[in-house]
Amino acid sequence: MARQNFLVAVALLLLTSVGVMAEKSAGCGKSPTIKSQQYNIQVNGKSRQYIVRLPTNYNQNTAYKLIFTWHQLGGSAAKIRDGEDPNRGGALSYYGLPPLSNNSAIFVAPQGLNNGWGNQGGEDLTFFDSMVKTIEADLCVETSQRFSTGFSYGGAMSYAVACARPKMIRAIAVLSGGVLSGCQGGNDPVAYYGQHGTADSVLNVSGGRQMRDRFVKNNGCTAVSEPQPGQTSVKVEYKNCKAGYPVTWVVHKGDHNPSQTDNGQIFAPKNSWDFFSQFQPQ
Ligand SMILES: *[C@@H]1O[C@H](CO)[C@@H](O)[C@H](O)[C@H]1NC(C)=O
Ligand SMILES: *[C@@H]1O[C@H](CO)[C@@H](O)[C@H](O)[C@H]1NC(C)=O
Repeated sequence: MARQNFLVAVALLLLTSVGVMAEKSAGCGKSPTIKSQQYNIQVNGKSRQYIVRLPTNYNQNTAYKLIFTWHQLGGSAAKIRDGEDPNRGGALSYYGLPPLSNNSAIFVAPQGLNNGWGNQGGEDLTFFDSMVKTIEADLCVETSQRFSTGFSYGGAMSYAVACARPKMIRAIAVLSGGVLSGCQGGNDPVAYYGQHGTADSVLNVSGGRQMRDRFVKNNGCTAVSEPQPGQTSVKVEYKNCKAGYPVTWVVHKGDHNPSQTDNGQIFAPKNSWDFFSQFQPQ
């Protein structure tokens, strides 16, 4: 008996020492009912909407990444699904990530109340929790591979998720964000990608730097001096961060824009995808 307890203890120790274990959601192996379309869900007595985008060849035995793509103020879930003209400051469909994902991710575009993420009393975080629960009960998700991104208010909401749900989210990408949806908790590490324009006339770059610096600190990274952007953006990868919790910061000379370009190429999608896809299911 004592020997059995000892063996169990050793096994637990080994498991915890390798970190979070790969875990497939309850929806794995099930014939899915969720399709690529809009859904309604009741959250705190309010009707909330979100749009799901499945991989074209969805397989119920493949555990996918789950990527939340939050819209900007005045935007909508439908605009995230459809994309908007990048030449007029719009974001590409699902922030340009699906073509890079090679069918390895399920995308979610939530709809904000009044087309924003005021997160009153944490209601948008509860909405996030409800979407995760509902989707993962039906679809096959690798639960150590949840991500969140958004521009402006959508960046603020991604930041709020990282602050309040650090164990649920592997990494976030904040495009020209500000602290508009709060930061409940905010003391735990989360892998952080941020990009911001020094000429941002809506949410200034110092606000973006403050958000980044919370995770530079939480992730145990060493501060670095930020180079000036030139004609193209500049990427800073922080050093000495805790293993698995990197911080990457991209600063550019532009205004408030999710579709800023370097040499004619919109760089947010590839930067965000490279950041997210560096993490393997553990
Ligand atoms: C896309 O995914 C498929 C199936 O997993 C794989 O065979 C293929 O090599 C991938 N293509 C790219 C460009 O990564
Ligand atoms: C940046 O914006 C914040 C919030 O609106 C404001 O408090 C701060 O003074 C601004 N900083 C600069 C350098 O403009």
